[in-house]
Amino acid sequence: MNEITVDIAAPDDWHVHLRDDEMLDAVAPFTATTFRHAVIMPNLVPPVTSTAAAAAYRDRILAAAGPDARPDFTPMMVLYLNDQLDVADMLAGVADGVVFGAKYYPAGATTNSAAGGSSLLGHRATLEAMAAAGVPLLVHAESTDPAIDLFDREAHFIEHQLLPVVEQIPELRVTVEHISTRAGLDIVRDHRQVGGSITPHHLTCDRTDLLANGMRPHLYCKPVINSADERRAIAAAATSGDPSFFYGTDSAPHPLSAKEAAKVAAGIFNAPYALEVVAELFHELDALDRLEGFVSHHGADHYGVERSSATVRLTRRADDAVEPAESLVTADGTEVRIFGADAARRWTWEPLGMS
Ligand code: NCD
Ligand code: ZN
Repeated sequence: MNEITVDIAAPDDWHVHLRDDEMLDAVAPFTATTFRHAVIMPNLVPPVTSTAAAAAYRDRILAAAGPDARPDFTPMMVLYLNDQLDVADMLAGVADGVVFGAKYYPAGATTNSAAGGSSLLGHRATLEAMAAAGVPLLVHAESTDPAIDLFDREAHFIEHQLLPVVEQIPELRVTVEHISTRAGLDIVRDHRQVGGSITPHHLTCDRTDLLANGMRPHLYCKPVINSADERRAIAAAATSGDPSFFYGTDSAPHPLSAKEAAKVAAGIFNAPYALEVVAELFHELDALDRLEGFVSHHGADHYGVERSSATVRLTRRADDAVEPAESLVTADGTEVRIFGADAARRWTWEPLGMS
């Protein structure tokens, strides 16, 4: 096997959790060296619900980005959509260039979602104001109805909560985050105003990997990784060139002690090898010519952001002799497991030109 080289425009991460304090200091440099834009999830405790809180968090992120951050690294701040969110404050934050969008979490669906909602349409006035101002709605599309099987919860939420919003407020730009099933792919394909982010782990793993050969808590995330059929459909969508699908890593670090526990925290930390994993998948599917669209162009186009003119060069080595790190330790001694080391045995990347 010969070496393979691919040049792409600087990539963006349209969905990432950077946390705060020592964890932020440890993880932010990976995102800041890899990605131009990073859409920052607001599920801190307490959640980021005001423009002032988002601006302060952005400053902490930039301070943690580190000396090797891309010069064009830009955290794009998102407010947590709940009853605390004040529409006038959000719109002022958007006008000031602080706030990018708002994220809806069904209460109880995932990590730090206790402050979330029980009805998306219950926020109709806010959603209409967002539609009028062109502010995107980012959605964790997962039902919390205990009667619904875990693996059907994306489809259930989409049918009962998201479709009514998309149909009744068609001017609202919507992103279905971390698509895990064909139900997520379908609502994106059926509506021009709806885009979908896709993670490295939903692209490359299925529930057999998660459960069959000893339960692997480091693959546990929400929405839970689904069947092999669903994974194949997601990978086909990402590699198809369809501009409605774009990369969002959902990198979500948790301490090892929370991942290797009787009740496992949901979230996978993939930022260190986010490009390597997706490059290897596109290589396997003979789709490296579509990688740039997925990681660098489609999200920018969906959100009306200029495409990057800087270039990143990815290289697939002829051998796999490298031993990539599989965990990191924060300044306060917390260990965090890293997803994707296998792909990092093969792939490296470097920024070529900054503009
Ligand atoms: C995320 C986290 O840890 O913050 N966890 C996850 O499993 N994806 C929250 C989220 O995006 O659902
Ligand atoms: Zn997330």
